[in-house]
Formats: sequence, structure tokens, C-alpha cells
Amino acid sequence: MSGNLEQFLTDLSRGLERTMVAVNKELTLRHRIQRTWSMRQCARFLNVSIQYLTKFANANDDFPAGEYVGRERVFTLNELMHMRALLAGSAKRPYDYLAWRKPGSPLPVVSFASQKGGTAKSLTAAHFAQYLSLHYGMRVGVMDADPQSTITLYFVGGEGLPAMPDENTASMVDFAGLFATEDAPFSDHDAETLDSFLLKTSWPGLRLLPAHGETSEGEIQIARLVREAPAGKSFYRYLRDAIERWRDGHTPKTRPNELVVDGAVDTNKLDQALTETLDCIIIDYQPALTLFQLNNVIASTSLIIPQTMKGFDIATLSTFVTGLLGMLQHILSHERLDIGSGANMLLPTIVQRNNEQDLKQISNLLEHCPTEVLPVFYLRSDSIANASDVYQSVYEYEPDTPGKRKGINRFIANADAVNDAIVGRLWPGLERGYANAWMDEFYEDDEVDKS
Ligand SMILES: Nc1ncnc2c1ncn2[C@@H]1O[C@H](COP(=O)(O)OP(=O)(O)OP(=O)(O)O)[C@@H](O)[C@H]1O
Ligand SMILES: [Mg+2]
Repeated sequence: MSGNLEQFLTDLSRGLERTMVAVNKELTLRHRIQRTWSMRQCARFLNVSIQYLTKFANANDDFPAGEYVGRERVFTLNELMHMRALLAGSAKRPYDYLAWRKPGSPLPVVSFASQKGGTAKSLTAAHFAQYLSLHYGMRVGVMDADPQSTITLYFVGGEGLPAMPDENTASMVDFAGLFATEDAPFSDHDAETLDSFLLKTSWPGLRLLPAHGETSEGEIQIARLVREAPAGKSFYRYLRDAIERWRDGHTPKTRPNELVVDGAVDTNKLDQALTETLDCIIIDYQPALTLFQLNNVIASTSLIIPQTMKGFDIATLSTFVTGLLGMLQHILSHERLDIGSGANMLLPTIVQRNNEQDLKQISNLLEHCPTEVLPVFYLRSDSIANASDVYQSVYEYEPDTPGKRKGINRFIANADAVNDAIVGRLWPGLERGYANAWMDEFYEDDEVDKS
């Protein structure tokens, strides 16, 4: 076969488009999050005892009806959010049920970044976003900075995003105002326009700024802006300024205890409150250290670096860390900015429990960077593939056999522990103890293994 690269890529791209049509159809037909949760699982999410929740359900006419599957009563995500609002209505501490931002409190912007590919950035970011919704009822904004659109895939299907987005959908490049207009080299979109870029998903209160192929334009546009150096904007402030503009126009107003009227949740008010602001922004990065990603870092209050523990990985990580540090110092020498003033951390991922080298790597890291490295981490699991095959997180995946269920449940326990550890660092006092329980078990097993 002869030909040239242009021909090859043209044919391949045509074939891939047809393949994607099939994938898209599958995603569009499917309703996102069909799964439901039992009363016991809801009680755990709400951090109350099952006895308390059952009693509360019986005493409140507006408690969601749920649905009976066999003898068990199960609830949807929307019903879980409804429970939160109802509980908050009469609670002494309403923020226990809806951990919403109070007026005037800062907006965490949490970045999941590393230069290396395949370190579970997207998986970690997606599971963290969904965990905050499931366990705290937080309103989360997920921003996809990667043209590969991995985290977008976790949320496609459902209300705001029925199919894979294309160039007509606004992405982070639009949000950051990087495209030139007829009369300006960049756009400072107003808060309302920026808000319209955040698309609703099937997760109540969770909105997505999706990515697609055009997201890779971000780098080209910034390179252009560096060259043109327009007055009034430094090349690293595009996302930061946009987020601040959005934030100032969308402050928290509704309090969690204002959602119940005459013993029932005012559903209009709840819907409105779920989109009035965000309690946390999460950014999933492309595996690269580019000027576009640098803009994301400058916009962040926290940086989480998911990192695998194989042979060259620490060397690669070291390159990323020194590279980023160099860029940051350069910027800070020109402008005093508050960057990453929240918690920052290194998160080991895809760790093989039985692999000596992995464990050695972690214990070395913990010894030399005791506060920087999370002692709770993601273990490698084969069952995650079952969920990824259908573009789902383990939180929404429903295994169809007991064998699969066991593996998925183990991974959920692991994800809960990691997420609880991150919550403990970002919002001290809000943690639930899953991280400590996981460490007790993991490090105790380790002792037993050694003896
Ligand atoms: N704990 C785990 N056990 C087994 N496989 C995992 C685990 N975590 C992630 N994976 C798999 O590793 C692959 C990469 O994960 P993911 O896409 O989250 O990484 P990433 O860092 O975002 O990649 P990229 O650099 O391309 O953006 C995926 O196939 C994912 O399912
Ligand atoms: Mg990714």
C-alpha cells in the first residue's frame, strides 16, 4: 500500500467520525445515572444513622417516595438532594446537609494536573466532583482543559449535554476569553455569558464546561496573545480573571435553611439555588505543561498532582515540578499574586499493592515529603475497567454480577478514602473518617505482611 500521511489521516478521521456517531448514539440514548441508592446508602451520604433517617422519613410528608425494588426502597440523585433540602429546613446546623458556600466565603478552584499522561487525573477529578455532590450536596463546576475530553465523557448524556460537544459548544478557551473579536484581541465576557457556558449535567448542581478538539486552540491563542501583548492583560491571567468575574456576579445568596416552606421543599427555589453559584471548581488538565495549563494553575487555589509510582515516574514528576516552579517564580517576580493558597498535594495513583517497588516509592516519598504527599492513595483495580467501558465512574456504575459488585465496592471504598483525605485538607473539619479507616486497614495489613 502506498499513500501519504495526509491521505492516511483523512481516511482515518472519516472512519473515526463514523465510529463516533455510533458511540454518540449510544450515549444519547442512555439516560445518565440510572442508578439509585438505598435508604441505608442515603443515610451514609447524609451522615446520619439509618434509624434517624427512617424516623425523619415517616414524620415528613414531603420525604421523597422513592421506588420499591423488591422489598427495598431506593432513591435517585434528585431525591437525595431533596432529602438534603428537607433535612436542612429544620436542622440546627443546616450547612451539615448542604455544605454550601456562605456569602463572602472564598471559592476553591482545585486543579488536577501532571505532565505525565495516564496518571488517573481525569478519574480522580471526576470521582472527587461526584463525591462532593453525593456526600455534601455541593454545587460543583467541572472544567475540562484537555482536548481528549476524558472528564467530559463522564458527564455526557442527560439534561444539559445530551451528546458529545463539538466546536459550537463553548469550552474553556471561550470561557477564558482567548478568541479575538473584530475589535479586540481577546474577550472579557460578562458574568452572565460566562455562566451560560456552564452546562447542566444529570448530577443536580453539578455543571460542566466541556472540552472538544478545539480546546487545543487554547495554546495557539495564548501564543498569539503573548506576541501581541495587548494592554490590560498579562498572558497568564485569562482564566483567573474570567473566574473572578464570574464569581463576583454569582455570589451565594440562598441559605440551606431557606428551602422549606410549610413543611415542603420549594422545588423552584431549590432548582434556582442549585445554579446560583458554585461551591467548588474542579479543573482536569491535559498531560502537558503549556501556557494554557499555566493559566489554569494561576487561577487555582489548590493543586493536586495525581502520580503513578513506576520506574521513571518520579523523575518525570520532578521535571514537571521544577518546570512549573520556574514559571511560577518568573510570574511572581513581576506580580505579587496569591496562587494555591489552599491545600496542595501529591496523590499516588494506580498503586499495585503487591508490588515492592510501588510501595517502596511511596514510603520514600512519605519520608522525604511528609506533608506534601497524601498517605491515602488509589490502588490499582481491575474492576475499574468495567465502569470505564461504559464511560461511568464507580459511583454511578451498577455491576450486573456479584463478582463485579465486590470489586466495584472495594474501589468505591478506596475512592471514598482518597476523597475524604482531600476534603480533610481543603475543608478541615468536614472529613468523615473514611481516610483514617482506610489507613488503619492498609497500614495494619502492611505490618502483618511484613511479619
Ligand atoms: N486505580 C486504577 N486501577 C486501574 N486502572 C486505573 C486506575 N486509575 C485509572 N485507571 C485507568 O488508567 C487510565 C488513565 O486514567 P485517566 O484517564 O484518569 O488518566 P489521566 O491522567 O487523566 O490521563 P491523560 O494524561 O491522558 O489525561 C484509564 O484507562 C483508567 O481507567
Ligand atoms: Mg485525563
